[in-house]
Amino acid sequence: MCVCTESYARRIVRDEMARDVDRQVVVLNVNGERAELLIPVHKTLLEVLREDMQLTGTKHGCELGECGTCTVLVDGKPELSCLVLPVQIEGRAITTIEGMANGSDLHPLQQAFVELGAAQCGYCSPGILLAAKSLLESNGAPSRDEIREALAGNLCRCTGYSKILDAVELASDRTRRSSPLAGEVAGETRRNQSRRSSPLAGEVAGEARRSQSRRSSPLAGEVARRADGDVQ
Ligand code: FES
Ligand code: FES
Repeated sequence: MCVCTESYARRIVRDEMARDVDRQVVVLNVNGERAELLIPVHKTLLEVLREDMQLTGTKHGCELGECGTCTVLVDGKPELSCLVLPVQIEGRAITTIEGMANGSDLHPLQQAFVELGAAQCGYCSPGILLAAKSLLESNGAPSRDEIREALAGNLCRCTGYSKILDAVELASDRTRRSSPLAGEVAGETRRNQSRRSSPLAGEVAGEARRSQSRRSSPLAGEVARRADGDVQ
């Protein structure tokens, strides 16, 4: 093969094979597929994804854990692949940007990014999309500040962030509208947060529950009144 047409990744792998380095077989679960690889033990997950698996959607930035460009999901949580060794995460579910769309159907976040122009050069986009995916899976209705906090570790040199935040909000709204159950869960989460942050609201909610309980069960009402101290 002519060296000028040989891919960068393939050259790296060939050079590594020529060097005398410790190698180990690791079994990774990437985007739902099992991959068995013989790799140098010092290689990071970022390098293995890009060079050994040709999954180049995961971007290579600072390699110091500072830019978030290399973010992937491990068991649904964001991890910086430049700081993880594959042997540390054998058997766990790794999701890269290649696993985000469902066939030709974009993930709602990807669709929103396209529509709102939240990607310019796009270098930061894979990491940001995956971090946002993890957020929406744990919080169906995040506030603007919660989105900002979840994406705080992902730098973008182009967009000024506003469109990225708008796109995550749009995807969150659409997902809730298309799934009333998700909306209900999100609403309940917000109500619980509100009760925790406001003791008076919690007391009002508690009294409403006690009243309902008394109406539906005289015996339960008696017990509740004693508990509330309104029986002499
Ligand atoms: S390349 Fe991993 S945090 Fe920058
Ligand atoms: S779109 Fe260029 S770095 Fe974010």
